Amino acid sequence: MDVETAIRTRRTHKAFKREPVERETLDELFELARWAPNHNLTNPWRFRVVGPAALERLKAAAGPEAAPKLDRAPTLVVCSCVASGDDVQREEDLLATACAAYIVLLAAHGRGLAGYWRTPGVLRTPGGRAAVGLGDDERFVSLIHLGRPIQDKQAPERAGVGEIAAYLD
Ligand SMILES: Cc1cc2nc3c(=O)[nH]c(=O)nc-3n(C[C@H](O)[C@H](O)[C@H](O)COP(=O)(O)O)c2cc1C
Repeated sequence: MDVETAIRTRRTHKAFKREPVERETLDELFELARWAPNHNLTNPWRFRVVGPAALERLKAAAGPEAAPKLDRAPTLVVCSCVASGDDVQREEDLLATACAAYIVLLAAHGRGLAGYWRTPGVLRTPGGRAAVGLGDDERFVSLIHLGRPIQDKQAPERAGVGEIAAYLD
């Protein structure tokens, strides 16, 4: 798949087949994520693949109402940003980590996988953070859901180029 097609056709999927994504494939996605642009080459991104015990801890922290949503995807990856340096570096590292998370989603799509960038509230709580081992110096960025797609997804409406871009004098 060429880059433009991948960018246009990647969609957020919320339903997946049950088989987890193989470790070899995940390693390929993380290897690609390393190529995200980052100022001063701080490599701020971290990825944690959620195993069965971590999933149980996360579900316990989420509580009975939110826990079932954590079972939607067969493979969950916590993407976080290591915060260091001054405020400018922290901001830039956070943006760079978002680029890295997007690479994971785009490269997964390029491999025929489905993905979902989710930011569940539990990962903003001390209990949820502890469940997946996020350190005090890490900022939660995304709980990336990965798996094989069950259905095609329609593209949501996007703002037109005229609404988002301007050519300055
Ligand atoms: C920073 C960020 C956080 C997101 N968090 C959520 C979320 O918690 N729940 C959700 O349903 N979608 C979440 N999304 C996915 C967007 O809703 C989705 O990308 C948008 O609807 C456009 O759909 P598409 O990805 O298929 O183009 C998030 C996306 C980003 C970039």
